[in-house]
Amino acid sequence: MIQLEGVAKRYQAGGQVVEALAEYTGTVEDGEFVVVTGRSGAGKSTFLSLIGGLIRPDSGRVLIDGQDIWQLSDAERSLMRCRTTGFVFQFASLIPTLTVAENVMLPTAFLPAGEAPPKQRALELLEQVGLAGYGDRMPWQLSGGQQKRVAVARALLNRPRILLADEPTADLDEQTEQELMALFQSLNRDGMTIVMVTHSAELASLGSRHLILSGGRVQSAP
Ligand SMILES: Nc1ncnc2c1ncn2[C@@H]1O[C@H](COP(=O)(O)OP(=O)(O)O)[C@@H](O)[C@H]1O
Ligand SMILES: [Mg+2]
Repeated sequence: MIQLEGVAKRYQAGGQVVEALAEYTGTVEDGEFVVVTGRSGAGKSTFLSLIGGLIRPDSGRVLIDGQDIWQLSDAERSLMRCRTTGFVFQFASLIPTLTVAENVMLPTAFLPAGEAPPKQRALELLEQVGLAGYGDRMPWQLSGGQQKRVAVARALLNRPRILLADEPTADLDEQTEQELMALFQSLNRDGMTIVMVTHSAELASLGSRHLILSGGRVQSAP
C-alpha cells in the first residue's frame, strides 16, 4: 500500500514559484490500477516521482507498506525502491552505449548478487513487449516507441510489486499501444499495483480508478 499524507511539492524557477503538487492526501491500495490524466504541466510527473520516492516532498510523508521512505537512509531507500517498484520514465532513458538487453538488465546492478535475475529474464521481457530478437541492438537503432517498450521491460525486470509508468504509450502507434495496455492489464490481474500517467483520456477507462490532475491539484474522476 502506498500512502501520501499531506504531500506537497513546489518548484522555484526564474523567480516564480510553481505549485507542482498542492497538499495531497490519498492512498493507492495493493492491486489497484490507477490512471492519472491531466494537461501538460499539470503536475503528473511530479506526482508519480513523489509516489516512487524519486523526489523528496517539501512537506508531508510518503509511506510504502507503512514505512516512511524519507526516514530511510539513501541506500535503504534505493534498495527498497529496487525491490518493490519499477519505474518507466517519461523521457527515454536508455543508456546509449549499452545494448538493449544490457539496458533491461540495469536494475540488477543495484540488487545484492543473489537476488539478481538471469539474462534470460531480460530476453523474455523483451519478447513480452514485442521486441523479441532486439537484445543485441543499440538504443539508437530503435524508434522512440521501441525505446519506450525497452524501458517498460527494464521496469519489470526485478518483478516489482508496484509499476509506475509515466506516459508509457506516448510514442506508440494504436496497435502497439493496445498490446502494451493488454500487458499492463494482465500484470495487474496477476496482482501488480500500477499507477500510470497518460495524457490520453481514452486510456483512463482501463484502470480501476481515474485521478485527474489540474494545476497541481488531484481530483477523483466522476
Ligand atoms: N525540476 C523542475 N524545476 C522547476 N519547475 C519544474 C520542475 N519540474 C517540473 N516543474 C514545473 O512543475 C509543473 C508540473 O510539472 P510536471 O510534473 O512535469 O507536469 P506534467 O508531467 O503534468 O506535464 C510545471 O509547471 C513544470 O514546469
Ligand atoms: Mg510529465
